[in-house]
Amino acid sequence: MNHTAINSCTTTPRFSSKAIGLELTPLQRALAAASGPNVLSLAMGLPDASLLPRAALAKAAGRVLNSDPSVLQYTLPCSYLKEQICKHMSDRGVDCTSDSIFLTHGAQQGISLLATLFLDTGSDILEETLSYPGYQHLVDAFRPNVFSVPTNANSGVDVDAVEKTLVSGSRPALMYVMPTAHNPLGVTLSHEKRCHLAHLAKKFQVPIIEDDPYGLLSYDSEPMPALRSLEETWIYYVGSFSKILGPSCRIGWIVAPKEHIQIVSVLKEGSDLNVSTLSQWIVSDFLRNEDLSAHVSTLREAYEKRRNAMNTALSREMPANVTWQVPTSGVFFWIDLPEHVDASDLLLRCINDEKVAFLPAEAFSRGKRKNGMRLNFSRYEADHIADGVARIGKGLRKVLH
Ligand SMILES: Cc1ncc(COP(=O)(O)O)c(C=O)c1O
Repeated sequence: MNHTAINSCTTTPRFSSKAIGLELTPLQRALAAASGPNVLSLAMGLPDASLLPRAALAKAAGRVLNSDPSVLQYTLPCSYLKEQICKHMSDRGVDCTSDSIFLTHGAQQGISLLATLFLDTGSDILEETLSYPGYQHLVDAFRPNVFSVPTNANSGVDVDAVEKTLVSGSRPALMYVMPTAHNPLGVTLSHEKRCHLAHLAKKFQVPIIEDDPYGLLSYDSEPMPALRSLEETWIYYVGSFSKILGPSCRIGWIVAPKEHIQIVSVLKEGSDLNVSTLSQWIVSDFLRNEDLSAHVSTLREAYEKRRNAMNTALSREMPANVTWQVPTSGVFFWIDLPEHVDASDLLLRCINDEKVAFLPAEAFSRGKRKNGMRLNFSRYEADHIADGVARIGKGLRKVLH
């Protein structure tokens, strides 16, 4: 008997075509390396946990756990929370009713459900050359045909290039954008570009997913109204309380045409039934009893100081041929490095030699771009930020010389 043949046939389960060939992503590899002892990590988009409203959420949790046994039950989505989210959406310039809100476990699930709603295997999609990896990896499961349009930290997605692609006859099944506080670029699209993009979505009938988890975290001025405020049929908005109340609440939502909410609910039921009742009720109780605007103002004030501290540190520590823009919203700086610098190599050196981490361009560009990095400024106070940027500057100077 040929044991090798038997082993190869029977000891390895056959994976689906979606799973075959999946490897750890650059993001996952970077995270594993950055979680080593004593590494100061500017890599992740984490809120500062000490600024999140733990005491108020503890009170909310106590109230809901002591009020009604159904808090631990399977329940229908909380209609009161949906109404509260409608009010919250008015701060994003969006006028909506609760029948156009669908509750999700975070923005990530919202994007995932919308991708499932629109994509078949091999569908065409339109995206920016630098984008949020959590979105890229989930659409990759559909083996999409990707059309990319240029983007940069100065003005964001090139909407003229979007128009050219659509005029040339492509009809992508979806486009994914972050018009406010782009991850990783930190850029917020101008009103003019928003109007152009919303117009293109309607004219060429392309559904656009507007991902907006950082929408309220703006500095210098009030937040720019969401893209959804300009077009209701073709813009599918995805929101989240992760960056405001805490990622572990796992409460996000979609704003979509109300006729589509039922289909999304069927898709979600097949995946994880319904959103945690406990989380929904705690967040709803928080919104009823606490002042969300005051809390958001506290976050904005703290993060604005940290943004300024990072800008000062970059000006002091970065070599002359390194450039960046100061973001007006969100939690990231994007740093453009000289063409020949591979930021993934730099990251490994920085982790090993300087004990500091960031995320390299490769993680956001489907592996195509090397010379850029994303730095987070929300997680740590100014002195840690200055220290982290100094360490990166030291690592970079070693590579450049
Ligand atoms: C652009 C973007 N979209 C979605 C998410 C996922 O957010 P959530 O915790 O709400 O699922 C993140 C998390 O960092 C993000 O940066």
